[in-house]
Amino acid sequence: MHAHKKGLRDLRPAGKRVLMRVDFNVPLRDGKVKNDSRITAALPSIRYLLEKGARLVLMSHLGRPKGKPAPEFSLEPVAARLAELLQTPVAFTADCVGPQAEEAARGLADGQVLLLENLRFHPEEEKNDPAFAQRLARLGEMYVNDAFGSAHRAHASTEAVAKLLHPAVAGFLMDQELEYLGRALEQPQRPFVAILGGAKISGKIEVIGALLGRVNRLLIGGAMMFTFLRAQGKATGQSLVEEDHLGTARSLLEQAGARGVDLVLPVDCVVSTATDGSAPGTPVAIDDLRAEQIGVDIGPQSVRLFAEKLRGAKTVFWNGPMGIFEVPDFAAGTTGVARAVADAGASGAVTVVGGGDSVAAVQQSGLAGKFTHLSTGGGASLEFLEGKELPGVAALDEVGG
Ligand code: 3PG
Repeated sequence: MHAHKKGLRDLRPAGKRVLMRVDFNVPLRDGKVKNDSRITAALPSIRYLLEKGARLVLMSHLGRPKGKPAPEFSLEPVAARLAELLQTPVAFTADCVGPQAEEAARGLADGQVLLLENLRFHPEEEKNDPAFAQRLARLGEMYVNDAFGSAHRAHASTEAVAKLLHPAVAGFLMDQELEYLGRALEQPQRPFVAILGGAKISGKIEVIGALLGRVNRLLIGGAMMFTFLRAQGKATGQSLVEEDHLGTARSLLEQAGARGVDLVLPVDCVVSTATDGSAPGTPVAIDDLRAEQIGVDIGPQSVRLFAEKLRGAKTVFWNGPMGIFEVPDFAAGTTGVARAVADAGASGAVTVVGGGDSVAAVQQSGLAGKFTHLSTGGGASLEFLEGKELPGVAALDEVGG
């Protein structure tokens, strides 16, 4: 679908400043990178460009700092981790635009690399502001986008800047993601089963609607299940419910019925009185959930039900954790589903997982090798599945163009 975009092999990067957008939106803990998979995923492009003698300027966002500098969202720890992985120094600038960044970029020698501070410290980045894109464009002579995880965002570093610097090409990770996801999901073998989790339906209404037109079965876990359960008139205690989306949930349930999609909701959940792990979790049937209880994970019966519903699947796409996965006591639903998807893969299904938490769950359970593709994109893989053209890809140069 996107095979017509130029790639790294179309560049002659020796001695040139190459501005490359990467997705280094990684989890940090105590000032250190907690999971570096998004960094390692960009290494093939980075190494290739450095070996070719490029002067590499890397840019990324991290978290959602709301348009102003915030130390907890600094990319400095990422520069340190990248330097360890590359075993070469990585220069860092405290601002992604302006005289200091320009000087640092101009000071690079062939084969040297610079990482800029978080793009989202400037509100213009998310506004796709052309003047801000101009300031970024001053840092390079050609442009690469290897940030598949951010390709669904039309931001200055993914969209506007690609119109200013040419060649503007896809990196190896971008290419690989588009190829694997395209192969697995554009003409899926059936039955096609999708599993969605995460807290909210509000950001995912369109994708759920689009999925209902593609899949044979949709399994829903994570806190978003409670909005659906409430829409069916069930009691949900203190669990997270999006009151203003009950109508949406009702309409999605109706659409599933009308399209003959088997939409499966959990039959039990783990409840607690706190979401941070300070109180124990107990499994209860959905119908027994009491007013003071908070649902924090899907329960063991639901894991069994989901595993049954995955049996015989030929294509499986999974996005979003089943519970508050960061708390070890509330992670069993997510790891149980990881195992069930791996089993479906062992029986011949093509299995694709997208999104930081679900991919981390797969990695932590030691099951990564059993999946067809682990995508670095959460929202991006969902939008790809919707069939939307991703703005970060659309903006790149066409082959022959
Ligand atoms: C992601 O983690 O999905 C990407 O890095 C995009 O982040 P965002 O949802 O904050 O734009």
